[in-house]
Amino acid sequence: MLESLERVPPDPILGVSAAFAQDPSPDKIDLGVGVYKDEAGRTPVPRAVRAAESAMLAAQSTKSYLSPVGNPQFNQRVAELVLGDGLGGRRTDLSLAQAPGGSGALRLGAALLTAASPQVAMHVSDPTWANHIPLLGSAGIPLSRYPYYDPTTHRVRFAELCDYLNTLPAGAVVLLHACCHNPTGQDLDLSQWQQIAEILVHRGLLPFLDIAYQGLGENLQADSASIQLLAKRVPEMIVAISCSKNFGLYRERTGLLLVASENAERASIISGQLGRLARTLWSMPPDHGAAIVAHLLGDPALRSDWQGELAHMAGRINDLRRALADTLSQKTQQDFSWIAAQRGMFSKLPLDAGQVRAAREQHHIYMAPDGRINIAGASNENMSRLTEGLAAVMA
Ligand code: LMR
Repeated sequence: MLESLERVPPDPILGVSAAFAQDPSPDKIDLGVGVYKDEAGRTPVPRAVRAAESAMLAAQSTKSYLSPVGNPQFNQRVAELVLGDGLGGRRTDLSLAQAPGGSGALRLGAALLTAASPQVAMHVSDPTWANHIPLLGSAGIPLSRYPYYDPTTHRVRFAELCDYLNTLPAGAVVLLHACCHNPTGQDLDLSQWQQIAEILVHRGLLPFLDIAYQGLGENLQADSASIQLLAKRVPEMIVAISCSKNFGLYRERTGLLLVASENAERASIISGQLGRLARTLWSMPPDHGAAIVAHLLGDPALRSDWQGELAHMAGRINDLRRALADTLSQKTQQDFSWIAAQRGMFSKLPLDAGQVRAAREQHHIYMAPDGRINIAGASNENMSRLTEGLAAVMA
């Protein structure tokens, strides 16, 4: 029976890491998968996360099961990190479930939606994270794309986005990137979020927020302002939260699904549904990363140290954005100032598939096939080589 299976093409993002690993060149530059890198090209475990891990392990007396919705302290503390103190006034109508990474949270959210309505349809930004469509589509949800990024002006196609949302039927689900849009780095500003909130409420649309880079754009507060704004406005919302990047816990698969509904009774029903759905998907989420985050967020000294480290990471990315924009503009005589204005790990270079291939084959510069670059893969050391190579393929 298994002979009917066909070979799959490489994953558009993870395939870049695999190809990079095979390249023997000492000058190779990895702008592929979205992981933070320091000046030496390493992806560190933040100091505060290491300290929280040691303390957590020292205090841990059992590894017996928790529950399908995971560690309640983790759930509560991460919900507060995203919604702010007082949980944005949604304390009594929240349902929380720990999940295996932001991807697990997205998948659990999708399962909840299909359980609520088998006819559910979802709308994602054009473009969006390369795994959104396969991941959410595998839950059986039909997906369509809404206009989002204009590669000519490097701005959000805001009027077209509003027009599109204004055609959707009540109950349609709109997947929105809360900050650090992946793959473009182009976010909505607060006045645009306000307008989106009005449309969502007016048309009865359900926002599904994906937040994977909180703290890596501006800071923890500014990067979650979109979610806090919507939480005050919409009756129902779903949020998939990843702790992979901001806590450096990538392989520990640490995430949370947060659902805000209309009242405590509804929230209690949804909590039960999330537990049941998690049980059918992975039975229980992995504990280790969540236990570290719960410990860290509950310890004021560790928390403050982590916030400092996170601010340093965001600062380094934004410095690199400015350096890349300036150097690339000089070397190409074109305007790349938009790279400095965008936020998060990614920007999308205006390169076609042939130019992306040439960057890899001729200059050992690795990026996703759609021209998405991880800014954190640049460094002061490789900036000159990187921009020479990019300018050569753009000439
Ligand atoms: C990315 O976009 O590169 C990251 O979110 C990693 C992944 O799983 O794709």
